[in-house]
Amino acid sequence: MMNLSPSFDLDSLTTAIILIDEHGVVDTLNQSAQVLLETSLKKAMGNPLDELAQTLGEGAILWHETLSSAIRTRLPAVSRDLKLSLKTGKEISVDVVITPLNDEQDSRILLEISPLDRARAISETADLREAQHRLHNVVKGMAHEVKNPLGGIRGAAQLMARKFDDRELDEYANIIISEVDRLQALVDRMLGPRESLDKRRLNIHEVTERVRQLIEAEAHKGLSVTRDYDPSLPEFSADAGQLTQALLNIMRNAWEASGDDCQITIKTRSRRQFTLNGHRHKLVCAIDIIDNGPGIPSDLMSSIFLPMVTSRPEGSGLGLSIAQLTLTRHGGVIQAVSEPGHTCFTLLVPMEELYD
Ligand SMILES: Nc1ncnc2c1ncn2[C@@H]1O[C@H](COP(=O)(O)OP(=O)(O)O)[C@@H](O)[C@H]1O
Ligand SMILES: [Mg+2]
Repeated sequence: MMNLSPSFDLDSLTTAIILIDEHGVVDTLNQSAQVLLETSLKKAMGNPLDELAQTLGEGAILWHETLSSAIRTRLPAVSRDLKLSLKTGKEISVDVVITPLNDEQDSRILLEISPLDRARAISETADLREAQHRLHNVVKGMAHEVKNPLGGIRGAAQLMARKFDDRELDEYANIIISEVDRLQALVDRMLGPRESLDKRRLNIHEVTERVRQLIEAEAHKGLSVTRDYDPSLPEFSADAGQLTQALLNIMRNAWEASGDDCQITIKTRSRRQFTLNGHRHKLVCAIDIIDNGPGIPSDLMSSIFLPMVTSRPEGSGLGLSIAQLTLTRHGGVIQAVSEPGHTCFTLLVPMEELYD
């Protein structure tokens, strides 16, 4: 039997939980259920669930039937993949598990409503993270192998130029040296950011302002950056250098994709009670980088965060994979949505220590 004593914190679950009596009248409901039904505990208690769920559309009618039969038979029942329409206009799919408590003193009925899209999205991102992680290790291994002989090649070219005092040879040696340096820089990027984070307390706007100055200096004209900051965002602990690099990689992409007349918006907000990588956080910092460019090519959309994926002839395809790695190490994530004229990368970073 499930423990439903008052000390049990129903509000900390993301599944909507509703307890009704055998007449379908709401006895109690957790925070998620209040959000789902767009009601409060006070308003909902003592009212028929059917009435409260009226606005949810077709899905609620279907669960009503399952519910009636569960009440009649006192047997558990499940309705899968029901479509609910929220007042916000959003459609969600849910699984509804109905369990009559059948206890001596307790004849209430428990409804557990779990959003599927979110569960699916979480498992998809988990798969993607795993793929990213594996690919990053392959790239890193390759980078190490390439890096080792580079020093030798560079040194040999220098020695050769010194030994034979020959102008033409000097020229060739210089080509070798400069190409080795270019490879060295690429290999360093392939190795990715330093593994350990140099965390300190920071105001996220210090970072976004630094990035704005850097990109404006790089881009000269044709770029306008709009700021939409939430000044009330509290400080939190993060690696400022690595976050700067991650944001800069994303801003550079926006600028490179959009060409002249590029408009970028940097928007900061906080999100409450947000689950990232399977951990629930009280407060998460959301940074949106929005551009008005042509959008991410649709065939690349699912793989842009993987290393070596690029649509640019001179691209390395490392910018986004490095940025994503940095956010992962902060316990966060980067998401992207894109359509022509509006591409938005959202960086989500936890703002406090995890709590269980
Ligand atoms: N803001 C954007 N608008 C359009 N496409 C983008 C944007 N950001 C990223 N992309 C796509 O994602 C690809 C990967 O980006 P990235 O990892 O930084 O590598 P690179 O910049 O070297 O190509 C880019 O080549 C581009 O196709
Ligand atoms: Mg890039």
